[in-house]
Amino acid sequence: MSHEKLETNVGLMAIAIAAVIAIGGLAEIIPLMYQAETIKPLPGVKPYPALELAGRDIYVREGCYNCHSQMVRTLRFETQRYGAYSDAGESVYDRPFQWGSKRTGPDLARIGGRYSDDWHRAHLTNPRDVVPESNMPTYAFMNERPLDAGQVQANMRGLKALGDPYSDKDIAEAPAAVDGKTEMDALIAYLQQLGKHRPKG
Ligand code: HEC
Repeated sequence: MSHEKLETNVGLMAIAIAAVIAIGGLAEIIPLMYQAETIKPLPGVKPYPALELAGRDIYVREGCYNCHSQMVRTLRFETQRYGAYSDAGESVYDRPFQWGSKRTGPDLARIGGRYSDDWHRAHLTNPRDVVPESNMPTYAFMNERPLDAGQVQANMRGLKALGDPYSDKDIAEAPAAVDGKTEMDALIAYLQQLGKHRPKG
């Protein structure tokens, strides 16, 4: 009887379908939120220091993720090209994470240390100067823009409220760490540490 009611009432049916799908979805998602390997930082992984954090915010602001992923998959041709595959424990303090699958340009998860700071500066200022066929936009304006220390501190406080273990000292010392630095300096500092904590292998 009640079954017939459910099958002949579109509204009820829609609610019942949504409920069943939600249960299935939650059963997949919730365990991940508590699994140690997805929430435990790998050894050495710490919240970003002030300058790198500022650089990360610029990376997100500029939408670099629209063309670059930061996720090496567990496939041989990926690990041969980029290096060790990505581990969830590397990006525990990445809010929002930058994994992605859109690759107009190469994956950047292992880019740190591959080029000099000067190479990055030249490349970001005008990609065509170092890679003639590049279609990456220019970011020359970052050379002129100073960092906003107050903004960096506010970001650190926000992340601390979300549970990232920043100390009051880290936050107090942030202005000194970004003093006199440009957006370009911060972005390069961020790029140069990508992959620093990759699993060995
Ligand atoms: C419209 C797409 C696009 C956007 C947006 C973009 N890039 Fe690129 N990027 C590329 C392409 C294509 C390449 C490969 C050619 C080259 O090296 O310039 C590249 C290459 C790179 C490389 C060198 C990678 C390597 O392995 O040699 C770095 C580093 C990089 N991009 C950083 C950035 C950063 C940081 C931003 C944001 C400020 C950004 N890109 C935004 C398309 C893009």
